[in-house]
Amino acid sequence: MFKRKKITIVGAGNVGATAAHWAATKRLGDIVLVDLSEGIPQGKALDLLQAGPVDGFDVKITGTNSYEPTKDSDIVVITAGSPRKPGMSRDDLLEINAKIVKTVTTEVVKYSPNAILIVVSNPLDAMVHVAAEVSRFPKNRVFGMAGVLDSARYKTFLAEALKCSVRDISAFVLGGHGDTMVPVPGYSTMAGIPISQLLDQKTIDAIVDRTRKGGAEIVNLLKTGSAYYAPSASVIEMVEAIIYDQKRILPCCVKLEGEYGINGLYVGVPVCLGEGGVERVIEVELSQDEKNALEKSSSAVSELMEAVARFL
Ligand code: NAI
Ligand code: 2OP
Repeated sequence: MFKRKKITIVGAGNVGATAAHWAATKRLGDIVLVDLSEGIPQGKALDLLQAGPVDGFDVKITGTNSYEPTKDSDIVVITAGSPRKPGMSRDDLLEINAKIVKTVTTEVVKYSPNAILIVVSNPLDAMVHVAAEVSRFPKNRVFGMAGVLDSARYKTFLAEALKCSVRDISAFVLGGHGDTMVPVPGYSTMAGIPISQLLDQKTIDAIVDRTRKGGAEIVNLLKTGSAYYAPSASVIEMVEAIIYDQKRILPCCVKLEGEYGINGLYVGVPVCLGEGGVERVIEVELSQDEKNALEKSSSAVSELMEAVARFL
C-alpha cells in the first residue's frame, strides 16, 4: 500500500518555513514543522495548510513545539539555530548552534531512529559532525546541505556572465561551507562546453570569488539575517532526490573515509542521492591547484571539528 513520506523540518524560521513551503508545493509528503517558539510553527503550518486549496496541494502540515508528532519521519531537516548577523562569520555561531543541534538531534533520534538527517544549521560542516556523533546514524543517513546552495550561486553567476539559461550550466562547488570553499571551473560547462573556452580567466576568478562570498553578500544586504530562498530550495532538492530515489549527483557534506585523500572529516563532495540517502561518493580528478584548495578547505573544517568537540 502506498504510504506518504513524512518530512520533519526542525526550526520554523526563514529557512525551515520556506523549505516547508517548497516541500508542500512539490507535494513531497506530510510535513511536521518543529520550533521552540510557541505558536510560530503552529501558525506557519496552519497558514501554509490554508494555501493548499489555492495551490492544489493536499499534504498534511502540522506545527508543534514537541517531538511526538515527528514520530517515524522518513527525513528530518535540521534548520534550528541562529542565523548570521552582519559582521558575524559562520564560525561565530559554533557554540550556540552546537548546543541546539545536539538537543534537536537527541530528540529527533528518539522518535525517528530510521530517518535520514539533513543538517542545514551553521557552521554547516561542524554541525553535521555534531548530528552524526549524537545520532550515531551510519554516514549514508546523516549529511549536510551547503554544496547545492553554493553551486546554485556559482551557476547563477556563470549564467549571468554567459548570458544563458541557468538550466544549461553544469557546475559544482567542493569543500567546506566557508570562505575556503572550492568552486571547480575545470568541471563547469555551458551545455557541455567548458567555461574556459567561453570566459576569460579574470571573469572566472571574479565569479569564483563572488561565489565564496555569496552568503555574506546576502547577509550584508538583508542586515537582519541570512539567505533563505536559495538555501531552502537547495535542501528540498536533496529531499526530493531521496523521496523519489532519483540518484541525483549533488554536492553534499558527508563524512569522507579516504576519498579525495581526506579521512574522518565532513566535507562537501559530489554524491549520489537516492532512497538510501548518500549511496556513494563520486570522486573526480582534480588539478594540483584544486587539490591544494580542497586541502586548505578541509583544514578549515578540521579546525571547526576540533573546536566543536568540546560541546559534544
Ligand atoms: P531563523 O532565525 O529564521 O530560524 C531559526 C529557527 O530555529 C528559529 O525559529 C528558532 O526559534 C529555531 N530554534 C532555535 N533553537 C531551537 C531549538 N533548540 N529547537 C527548535 N528550534 C529552535 O534562521 P534561518 O535563517 O532559518 O537559518 C537557520 C540556520 O540555517 C542558521 O544556522 C543559518 O546560519 C543556517 N543556514 C545554513 C545554510 C547552509 O547552506 N547550510 C544556508 C542558510 C542558512
Ligand atoms: C549562506 O551561505 C548563511 O550559510 C548561509 O547563505
